[in-house]
Amino acid sequence: MAIGAGSFLGGLAEAAVLIAMTLVAEALIRGSDTVEVLGTDIASTTVIAVALALLVVRVGLSLATTSTAAAFSADVMRRAQQSLLRTYLSSSHPVRSSRPRGDLQSVAVTHGRFTGDLANAYTQMAASVCGLLAFAVMALTINPVAFVAIVVVGGGLIAALRPLRSHSRAAARSYETVTRTLGREVTQVEALHREVHVFGVEEPVEDRITDTVTEGGRRYRRVRFLGQAVPQVFQSVLMAAAVLGLLAIVQTATASSDLATAGAVVLLLIRSMSSAQQLVTANQRIIELGSYARGLDELIATFRSQAGRIGTVVPTRLVPVRLRSVDFSYEPGTPVLTGLDLELCAGEVVGLVGPSGAGKSTLVELLLHLRTPTAGSVEFGGIPVDQIDPAELARRIAIVPQDPVLVDGTVAENVDFFRSLPPGRITDALDRADLAEQIDALPDGVDTRLGSDERALSGGQRQRLTIARALAGDPEVLVLDEPTSALDSRSEAVIARMISGSGTGRLTVVVAHRHSTLRSCTRILVLNKGRVEFDGTPEEVAEASPYFRSMLNADH
Ligand SMILES: Nc1ncnc2c1ncn2[C@@H]1O[C@H](COP(=O)(O)OP(=O)(O)OP(=O)(O)O)[C@@H](O)[C@H]1O
Ligand SMILES: [Mg+2]
Repeated sequence: MAIGAGSFLGGLAEAAVLIAMTLVAEALIRGSDTVEVLGTDIASTTVIAVALALLVVRVGLSLATTSTAAAFSADVMRRAQQSLLRTYLSSSHPVRSSRPRGDLQSVAVTHGRFTGDLANAYTQMAASVCGLLAFAVMALTINPVAFVAIVVVGGGLIAALRPLRSHSRAAARSYETVTRTLGREVTQVEALHREVHVFGVEEPVEDRITDTVTEGGRRYRRVRFLGQAVPQVFQSVLMAAAVLGLLAIVQTATASSDLATAGAVVLLLIRSMSSAQQLVTANQRIIELGSYARGLDELIATFRSQAGRIGTVVPTRLVPVRLRSVDFSYEPGTPVLTGLDLELCAGEVVGLVGPSGAGKSTLVELLLHLRTPTAGSVEFGGIPVDQIDPAELARRIAIVPQDPVLVDGTVAENVDFFRSLPPGRITDALDRADLAEQIDALPDGVDTRLGSDERALSGGQRQRLTIARALAGDPEVLVLDEPTSALDSRSEAVIARMISGSGTGRLTVVVAHRHSTLRSCTRILVLNKGRVEFDGTPEEVAEASPYFRSMLNADH
């Protein structure tokens, strides 16, 4: 609104200046120092002074509209990026985990920025339309023929733009998809840089990215060509229209006094042409950038459509955890877990074992409410999980993941993990994770910054830091995905101590591989092909399950 009004008024001021200039020039030619405006004679110097004042007003107006347009574009970009991240964070785990790596990053950064640019192109379009309108109004007051010429040219332009739209849109869309592919491929190379080097596959990897880059270049060229050629073609069309308009004015001019009017109209026409070209350029940018905004919107819609139902119940206790006739499959017709009936009680340390692909990680994700059973239900403290307030669950369940990932921040921030826990909890957790001593030895203690490259800590220390993170929240249910990779003896001891000492009513579920961990379990569940094959104390299961016996023996 403000931009439209500002541009319209600016256009009026500019048109008035142009008319004043032609009137003064015509007076000079006549050898007169007065100009006739609406039947009154005014001194040329006064007219020039007014014209200069109008120019000052125009500069002020254009600065104000530009500043409003910039603020608007920045706001659109910020909202788009915020909305993408918010919907991503509130979407379901299956959606998040099936996303190709690097896609969210490219969309948040590139598409977010281009969505801001799109808003900017819209403001430019509104400004040029309003500017054109101002010129048309001025032209109408001095010569109706010129007005008709401008309207006809404007209308013709809009009609002529139509067939090009779908062409430009398709080009822009195809370039947008290739930018996303490039984003994913680059992210992958970054994540695999070590392997790429060790396996010596730099060349094929580079070839693969070069293919995408080349294809991107080809599509970008098309987008750029259309983006610039279309306004240029239209400029030529407009010039032809201006010549015709001028002809029409000369034809209708009956007296020499019409000369000044004709001059003013020509100036207005020439000036309108640049506004019209701006309009066409803005239109091309809207088509081009629109595909980015659509890509971003589609991603937001994907995240939004998958947001789960939000429960509100706050259970007094989360344990026992019950699984009732739980089935789960990722793909219809391929069951991964079948008919699980389990009751996991307070104080238990449940070791989850079974061959690779048996469904251990899947069961863990069901317990963490990251996935929903295909059939049956999961209950915490007697309440179906989908009725429980998710924030409450999150506060009272913790996970130690298989691969520790640190955030950019201090040791304390890594343990706190955005939960604003009391400082005492953090030092206590570091102590329980057997890290206190090593952290104290760091230059700034718990305030030492750890980079996302995690250079400052060893693998075992990182592992223990994620253990401290889980313990700091004093969870009622603790899920631990034990690393299959070698664990330093210190971390191993911490894990064993943590699970055996969990005592006080906590339920610990551990996907266990190590003898030291298995020994600390009070109960063993052997999963095989998605079913519970054995369930009992380690002694009972060792007696019954050859698989478990082989695990115990292998680890000695
Ligand atoms: N996201 C997924 N989409 C489709 N199938 C999956 C997905 N994740 C796992 N599966 C399949 O589900 C089955 C169980 O996998 P799961 O990861 O639960 O096994 P696991 O017992 O944890 O194995 P491991 O000991 O190797 O970690 C496997 O057949 C696997 O291929
Ligand atoms: Mg697993």
